[in-house]
Amino acid sequence: MIAAANSPSYPVTTGTPALRDAIKKWSIDNLGIKGDFDVIPTIGSKELVAWLPTLLQAKHVLYPEIAYPTYLVGAIMGGATHESVGIDASKWPPADLAWVNTPSNPTGRVHSRSELQAVVDYSRRHKTIIASDECYISFPAGSSKPISIFEVADGDNTNLLAVHSLSKRSNLAGYRAAFVVGDSALIARILEVRKHAGMMVPLPVQKAMTAALADEVHVQEQAERYRARRAVLQSAIESQGFRVDETEAGLYLWVTRGESDWDSVRWFVQFGILVTPGHFYGEAGNRHVRIALTATDEQIETAARRISESKVNK
Ligand SMILES: Cc1ncc(COP(=O)(O)O)c(C=O)c1O
Repeated sequence: MIAAANSPSYPVTTGTPALRDAIKKWSIDNLGIKGDFDVIPTIGSKELVAWLPTLLQAKHVLYPEIAYPTYLVGAIMGGATHESVGIDASKWPPADLAWVNTPSNPTGRVHSRSELQAVVDYSRRHKTIIASDECYISFPAGSSKPISIFEVADGDNTNLLAVHSLSKRSNLAGYRAAFVVGDSALIARILEVRKHAGMMVPLPVQKAMTAALADEVHVQEQAERYRARRAVLQSAIESQGFRVDETEAGLYLWVTRGESDWDSVRWFVQFGILVTPGHFYGEAGNRHVRIALTATDEQIETAARRISESKVNK
């Protein structure tokens, strides 16, 4: 990125040939995508999540009942009607755009192969565009690896998109580096609008993305860091009567002890630990809190020690 700092010309919205090749190779190697597909770099993934209903002129948007809030915000921004849904796509109502998030923020839940298959079947049945936000896919908590929607698409990527972010994979959040991959016809539509709306990734960032996508060592090191932090925090909070639910991957622990989320927030606050109340992600989350593993190793150790030594539990 530093070597490319002197880049006064407009960058290309569709990405440099080298970046496009790097994203395609990474997607084939890591997402199992086959058949015809295309890619676009995005200015982080939050803007894409927020603008996708607008870019695709979606009229009715589905999103998970416990979810990253931008899915709903994006539907509102696009003037679409919206509905939250459970995991089982066989029960979903018709819609023209549906969000899936695996591994999930905030819960860390991972869709199984059969759950993703149900999503693809739903898409084929209703001709619904699926946007699968998979930005935490590089960080499994246990031995099983989260899979992409493309693992079950069988080379037919019609109406399927996946969203990925180097904010998570490569800790590049400050540089805004992400991409969307999938159905070539949809990507062409998205690209057309993005070109006219000036949604382009600066060239130095495109160069950094190209380099980061070619390396998996730093990703494995980071995954190991999150696994270690998770283990330290999890045993401390379990010692105080909390339960960690669903969390199979990603950067968060989804934690409850059956009380209201605000009561749990208050409990953690007395140790100087800030956790997020679950209802920020939907009413169904109102008995959980989300604990992020993004603090430093030292801060996580300190938090775990304060929790474990607490005498004021329950
Ligand atoms: C599920 C999910 N999607 C997308 C994003 C956006 O990340 P970014 O804009 O940094 O790529 C986040 C950030 O926390 C997230 O949790």
